[in-house]
Amino acid sequence: MGTHIISLMLTAVYAGTFDPVTHGHLDIIRRAAQLYDRLIVAVPRAGGSKQPLFSHAARLELLRAEVTGQSGIEVADFEGLLVDFARASGARLLLRGLRASSDFEYEFQMALMNRALAPDLETVFMITRPEYMFVSSSLIREVAAAGGDIAQFVPERVRTAIIAALAR
Ligand code: COA
Repeated sequence: MGTHIISLMLTAVYAGTFDPVTHGHLDIIRRAAQLYDRLIVAVPRAGGSKQPLFSHAARLELLRAEVTGQSGIEVADFEGLLVDFARASGARLLLRGLRASSDFEYEFQMALMNRALAPDLETVFMITRPEYMFVSSSLIREVAAAGGDIAQFVPERVRTAIIAALAR
């Protein structure tokens, strides 16, 4: 009789633009990594309607630098649909962070679209920690561009990268 290896490994994909990664994202990543065997943090090659400050490669590099050495976390890029990437990676879950109720409409729409495209995948939401409720990548870029202090919202490496990118 052949041996059947049944994989019980739970893989989740946390996708986003990460322009750049913030303490808010990293908090979700750290907490999710404790729940799932494998967490893939994924950055699409095409930025949608967003015009990012950082190149795709730079966003991946900043993410990698922050999660390096943490077991069970991978950083990946993908082309095309998130649901196709998730399936190809063996993931059953799409993870999203929720900050305020204002996120809900957009997240609800995306989750339903993803479900219509791939009924076998489930979207799971994690609520942000209150101290990161108002943090977003675009607001951080705006504060930094106006000379404000962003040290409490992003890791030091990211802060330095934002200042350098804005100076260019
Ligand atoms: N802490 C801090 N900020 C957070 C956060 C958290 N926990 N959670 C979300 N945000 C912020 C992000 O920084 C970002 O801020 P910004 O708009 O000011 O830059 C915003 O919330 C939402 O961005 P993000 O979580 O990166 O999602 P997104 O809307 O940029 O990305 C994708 C959405 C990448 C998941 C989606 O476009 C996608 O799946 N693309 C692939 C193509 C596809 O399948 N499309 C169909 C989707 S239905």
